[in-house]
Amino acid sequence: MPVIAISNQKGGVGKTTTAINLAAYLAKRGNKVLLVDIDPQGNTTSGLGFEKSGFEKTIYNGLFDPETIQDIIQETPHSDKLALIPANQDLAGAELDLVNELKREFKLKDLLGRLDYDYVIIDTPPSLSLLTINALTAADYLLIPVQAEYYALEGLGQLLDTTERVKQALNPNLSLLGVLLTMANNRTTLSGEVHKEVRKHFKDKVFDVVIPRNVRLAEAPSHGRPISHHDKWSKGARSYKQLAKEVERRLSKKK
Ligand SMILES: Nc1ncnc2c1ncn2[C@@H]1O[C@H](COP(=O)(O)OP(=O)(O)OP(=O)(O)O)[C@@H](O)[C@H]1O
Ligand SMILES: [Mg+2]
Repeated sequence: MPVIAISNQKGGVGKTTTAINLAAYLAKRGNKVLLVDIDPQGNTTSGLGFEKSGFEKTIYNGLFDPETIQDIIQETPHSDKLALIPANQDLAGAELDLVNELKREFKLKDLLGRLDYDYVIIDTPPSLSLLTINALTAADYLLIPVQAEYYALEGLGQLLDTTERVKQALNPNLSLLGVLLTMANNRTTLSGEVHKEVRKHFKDKVFDVVIPRNVRLAEAPSHGRPISHHDKWSKGARSYKQLAKEVERRLSKKK
């Protein structure tokens, strides 16, 4: 069961957009997919059309009480192959509440260990907090969305250091699946320069597909739909469809 954490502590780089749409296209390709929201902002949860305050139990409960997992998992209205572990503001308190727990970095791993899916995709908060550490400890792979702008690489050193430390202390299994260029604007040379820089640094770890800036991607969450259901012919949709294929290809090579 490949578990992929989508992470970058920088805010607004396309983590949630990537988590939702990658998961939706993997499901469309016939895989049984679980999307895990471990961000108190709950954007993945609302982006799939759920009312964030409408849950009796969320991932918060699952982290402390893994037996309740089957009550937490939500089917989604978009596909019978796509399920969600939702998050909301309740999770903001988890950081403090986890501090005194035994094996506090392994809570998500323990939870996911009870489940069986073809893919698990985890959307993480814009921080290197204990929640993100839980995601990296539970994951086999890290996917880093990078926004095509100045300073795109800034802060990535810190993320890679954290990943290395998690790998050494908590999860030797973790590896970098790839770096994804997001919100690219083809008309500016700036995007082009950033791409060159990122490719120079990460080489073939950079996904071939580049996600363009596309208004259909930005408006889909307000309709509570993945782009596959909002406008499947848009450029944004086609690029995330291609990402799902690339992810499958990369993982089949690693098996
Ligand atoms: N390719 C794109 N084209 C246009 N808008 C996009 C694209 N990707 C993301 N956006 C928009 O940019 C904003 C930030 O994206 P998103 O929420 O996916 O980033 P994030 O990294 O999850 O943010 P946070 O760090 O707050 O969790 C959102 O309003 C989203 O709809
Ligand atoms: Mg997000």
